[in-house]
Amino acid sequence: MPTERCRVLFLPDGKEVRVRPGTTLLAAARSAGVRIPVRCEGKMGCLMCKVTLNSSEAGVLPPEEGERRKLGPALDRGIRLACQAKVCGEVTAETPEDPLKRAVRLQLEKAKGAKEDFWD
Ligand code: FES
Repeated sequence: MPTERCRVLFLPDGKEVRVRPGTTLLAAARSAGVRIPVRCEGKMGCLMCKVTLNSSEAGVLPPEEGERRKLGPALDRGIRLACQAKVCGEVTAETPEDPLKRAVRLQLEKAKGAKEDFWD
């Protein structure tokens, strides 16, 4: 008998994976080759694994008390902890930008702005 699989799409990478129901988004991300940097490995200590869902209730089980306490009103904006949110259907999750890539992007934007100022 085939096992049901749930499709999870990670943005902005555009990587997709099919996982068993009950798999955390963090485990799904790792299966898809999407890097979500964390420090606590799922103990709800670092809060670095926040992802944004395309719809706050789509494709994941409701948050348990611990996650509710940690995220508070951010839950209403579709933010979940990838280490806690368990897949139960189709999900699209936006992952945080890698800190190094963000630093490079900001430097490039700053340099581009300075260059445009010079020629104006
Ligand atoms: S991995 Fe640290 S809070 Fe999720």
